[in-house]
Amino acid sequence: MRVSLLFIPLLLVHIPIVAHADAIHDAAKEGDVAAITAALDAGAGVDESDGHATPLFLAVRGGHFAAAKLLVERGADVNATPDPRLGSALMPALAKRRIDLINLLLDAGANPNSDRGGQSALHVAVTLSCLDCVKALVEAGADVNAKTKDGKTPLHLAKLKGQREVADYLLSHGVVLPTPAPISMKLASADVEKGRTYFTRVCAGCHHADPQGGNKTGPNLWSVVGRDKASMAGISYSDTLLAWEGVWTYEDLNKYLFGPMLTTPGVKMEIPGVPDETERVNLIAYLRTLSDKPIPLP
Ligand code: HEC
Repeated sequence: MRVSLLFIPLLLVHIPIVAHADAIHDAAKEGDVAAITAALDAGAGVDESDGHATPLFLAVRGGHFAAAKLLVERGADVNATPDPRLGSALMPALAKRRIDLINLLLDAGANPNSDRGGQSALHVAVTLSCLDCVKALVEAGADVNAKTKDGKTPLHLAKLKGQREVADYLLSHGVVLPTPAPISMKLASADVEKGRTYFTRVCAGCHHADPQGGNKTGPNLWSVVGRDKASMAGISYSDTLLAWEGVWTYEDLNKYLFGPMLTTPGVKMEIPGVPDETERVNLIAYLRTLSDKPIPLP
């Protein structure tokens, strides 16, 4: 075969880099510190991606602390995210609940708010029920009020999963529970018809509102104003709703419907809620009419 002289230098330069790239990824997967050092010394890029992951990501995913530490010391970018579906090296450290790796990365400047697939590292830690991971992230500055793409906070997930310790920790480290302003005095001037239209569009998919309707995904809402909370037979209510004492008052409905996952974390009604006050007032005024004998307006 004839190879033009022109290409020989190119081949010489090109082949070793490819070989070292493969070598460093294989070495990182195996946690082979000597082989990683050799590959780096031979010129492999410390952050070179194998198409999805950096050597640091692979070392962490393999659970190899010494290899991960070496790569960090050799200047690896702890926030590199060549593939957003995999996230940064923090994600496999969390998945393995490896607090040593998590701290190594955070101490080297890993972003405690990095995310993957629309949820933050803190959401991942809560989903994994890892209190130590949650603490490490919060101490490094993770936002305890972060929301997933569909509006779930870490506290909501913790409560829904019955993780009391995680929930208490989050509550004492900066969680803000919004409290909507009182609305009772605005009910008399509400537009009940608009409330009915809103209900049909947003709520009726999960709730029957007539006395004979029975339950759907959510409990029947006939006579809900003045009814004991979480009291319909046949519904498996959340601990949050079961623990909330008393009957449904206008102000309790105001609080709940504002943003169920924000104001009453842990509820099974995982909808964004009705943050607009006028819409919420109209809706509550309509809920009041679902009764043979509506409770008097305040
Ligand atoms: C995706 C389904 C779904 C949608 C949409 C939905 N809900 Fe619910 N709702 C539920 C579930 C499930 C529960 C029980 C929650 C729990 O146990 O935490 C519930 C509970 C309730 C309760 C408490 C009832 C009781 O028996 O204590 C009220 C009030 C309520 N929903 C009103 C509404 C209103 C008003 C809307 C429209 C803005 C709405 N819901 C939209 C599923 C839904």
